Amino acid sequence: MIKTYIVTGASSGIGHQITLDLLKAGSQVGVIDVKSLPDDLKSAESEGRLIFHDGDCSNESDVKALVRKVRERWQRLDGLVNNAGFMIRKPIKDLSLEEWQKVLGTNLTSVFLFARETQTLLSKHKGSIINICSTRATQSEANTESYSATKGAILALTHSLAISLGPDIRVNCISPGWIDVRSEAEKKKEPLKRSDHEQHPVGRVGQPGDISSFVQFLFGDHSGFITGQEFVIDGGMSKKMIYEE
Ligand SMILES: NC(=O)c1ccc[n+]([C@@H]2O[C@H](COP(=O)([O-])OP(=O)(O)OC[C@H]3O[C@@H](n4cnc5c(N)ncnc54)[C@H](O)[C@@H]3O)[C@@H](O)[C@H]2O)c1
Repeated sequence: MIKTYIVTGASSGIGHQITLDLLKAGSQVGVIDVKSLPDDLKSAESEGRLIFHDGDCSNESDVKALVRKVRERWQRLDGLVNNAGFMIRKPIKDLSLEEWQKVLGTNLTSVFLFARETQTLLSKHKGSIINICSTRATQSEANTESYSATKGAILALTHSLAISLGPDIRVNCISPGWIDVRSEAEKKKEPLKRSDHEQHPVGRVGQPGDISSFVQFLFGDHSGFITGQEFVIDGGMSKKMIYEE
């Protein structure tokens, strides 16, 4: 039996790494993104191990379309990663209602839509949902209200879904800290500073693989007693006292 997953926002960053690692482990994956599929996922698509839906995860008909394609081709679903998300950094006085709603749609409404549309398939094989949250659910920089609001809501939605969908479906969330998701060209052009790394208790900035490896654990055979939880993966940053000297 081949394990089957859905990942939102798989064309770059954390979702891209999660998708690569699920495919490497022999799984089949359905993905949705507003950006085109990167070259390193195209071979899986031509081998029939990946379905790419070119669409918007906040759009109900796009969500239904991807879930239908997965159901028709593979008739099963073992896990869902609600990963797609973005931030608008703007003083609240300049933030339009349209911008606020766009952030809520992509980051939060998509989690509701995918959970609802996949419930029947996921419950058949005791599947699980992983929501990608953020340490910004509980800490803030100025001018990030719409993003923080969605991440705080994902934290609550995670335990709410865990209670409603259990015991058939487990639901957890991962809160990454600073994960360097830039392209190799961008990293070369502007390398991280020594202080970027050294401020972290673990001595380095995070990489997409730090999140993906935990996704593998939560989808694996040793996490069956875990649901409704938040896992903070931030190199220890949120445990530091930050009062200025
Ligand atoms: N990188 C970090 O430091 C960090 C920290 C905490 C949380 N996160 C969270 O991790 C998740 C992934 O972020 P990332 O850093 O990899 O970002 P990213 O921008 O590299 O990747 C996000 C992907 O989601 C896609 N996407 C955006 N809007 C979409 C939509 N409406 N429908 C479908 N796809 C859409 C983008 O095209 C992109 O491919 C997000 O939820 C983000 O909030 C990231």
